Amino acid sequence: MDKELVVVIDFGGQYNQLVARRVRECNVYCEIYSYKTDLAKIKEMNPRGIILTGGPSSCYEEGAALCSKELFELGIPVLGLCYGAQLMMHVLGGRVEKAPVREYGKTEVHVDTNSALFTDVTPDTVCWMSHFDYISALAPGFKMVASTADCPVAAAECVERKLYAIQFHPEVLHTVDGSKMLYNFVRNICGCSGDWRMDSFVEESIKAIREKVGGGKVLLALSGGVDSSVAAGLLSRAIGKQLTCVFVDHGLLRKNEGDEVEAVFGSGGQFDLNFVRVNAQERYYGRLAGVTEPESKRKIIGEEFIRVFEEEAKKIGAVDFLAQGTIYPDVVESGLGGESAVIKSHHNVGGLPDYVDFREIIEPLRNLFKDEVRKAGLELGIPEKLVFRQPFPGPGLGIRIIGEITAEKVRIVQDADAIYREEIAKAGLDKTIGQYFAALTNMRSVGVMGDERTYDYAVALRAVNTVDFMTAEIAEIPYEVLQKVMSRIINEVRGVNRVFYDLTSKPPGTIEFE
Ligand code: XMP
Repeated sequence: MDKELVVVIDFGGQYNQLVARRVRECNVYCEIYSYKTDLAKIKEMNPRGIILTGGPSSCYEEGAALCSKELFELGIPVLGLCYGAQLMMHVLGGRVEKAPVREYGKTEVHVDTNSALFTDVTPDTVCWMSHFDYISALAPGFKMVASTADCPVAAAECVERKLYAIQFHPEVLHTVDGSKMLYNFVRNICGCSGDWRMDSFVEESIKAIREKVGGGKVLLALSGGVDSSVAAGLLSRAIGKQLTCVFVDHGLLRKNEGDEVEAVFGSGGQFDLNFVRVNAQERYYGRLAGVTEPESKRKIIGEEFIRVFEEEAKKIGAVDFLAQGTIYPDVVESGLGGESAVIKSHHNVGGLPDYVDFREIIEPLRNLFKDEVRKAGLELGIPEKLVFRQPFPGPGLGIRIIGEITAEKVRIVQDADAIYREEIAKAGLDKTIGQYFAALTNMRSVGVMGDERTYDYAVALRAVNTVDFMTAEIAEIPYEVLQKVMSRIINEVRGVNRVFYDLTSKPPGTIEFE
């Protein structure tokens, strides 16, 4: 039986991966192709449906990203979104013009619930609009099925030809019933059964990796973070020992983390691969001795990583592929859409390593969002502890220690952080707080313990909730939990006599504590 596939045609819009993600959420497999892809190739794939995305062009201008009329004559249901909707009208004989009023943001839309697109959608619903052109005349055979105060055609359909056009963006969460609309299209109009699951992604990726890599060698820098771990798991399942993972323990990881990564990926673990652990702790501490300025610390940690990785890469020799755990939000952050795809340099590595002798980059998670990466990780059998790890910066505890970094300070912050995390988990708060960790201030002060005077460090506890990591609010942790953490840290961690709770939001603070 043919695999059920929906093809998303990319016209360069900013939400294209989001469209794909929403389709996957309907348990329907989809792939994104550039608008330049040959129609014959698309036809060959025999998709159940085609979605045309938004894009920056004006379809009536010279040089616009276009598609052929035949695309709409294949008998395959087509849904045009935003620019895709305008293009459908333009190509089929309607008219698209500059709108007298540019619509942007949340907009009330009145929809015709008799349209199959809007089954179960509230008649007056909020949608996300972002357009400067509008459909001023429908193409022959089309019927208007949604409108707004400023936009006479917010959606249109030609049921006989299975063609649908939506001016707004159902893929964006601000469109309250957007997921329902996409569900209506892929499941009801295209008739997809919805039997696709994340395990299919894993299987398909394994197949694709095997095809691409052939008998070649692959090198991956494994940090132990979610993304590189899932990439390692996937590659290992696909090509086994053709994969070498280099894991640099810079001595700035959380307590026991190096051993935990080794237990999963090292020999005796569940994955078949060459695992190289480099214990570079002393080397890092040596380079960081006496350095107090935060940016200098970051720079040294980054440079040292390159040196260590370079040395290991030289030992391994030429490889065919350099693998990276880039995920979709990384691609977006670097301002790269599918239509303008360039390879992203890992922000912790500081540029593509030209010292590694490789032929090509391989990024098996490039199209996935974080929660999808996690699902894939669980599918691969990577332990939950690793899969649900909170964000941990590349420079590690190096940016959670104020002032000079020493082995002693690393020990203090590791121990305090382990207690903090344990108590947060015990209190059942670990899944609700965005990011939380202990940091070490550079302040020592007088205290008294037993009958003795102490002169020790103050630990800072941080806990924030954030949607996008650009801004953050502090998380409210019950007093008794904080009290418990405080007393355990003071009692169990040598060298600490005070515990502070950081109340600062971002801005003005940052999430990290450096
Ligand atoms: P800030 O401190 O800038 O942190 O508010 C925002 C988010 O980014 C993480 N972060 C980093 N992640 N390498 C990383 O991989 C880094 O150098 C780095 N610096 C900050 C931080 O943990 C938070 O989630």
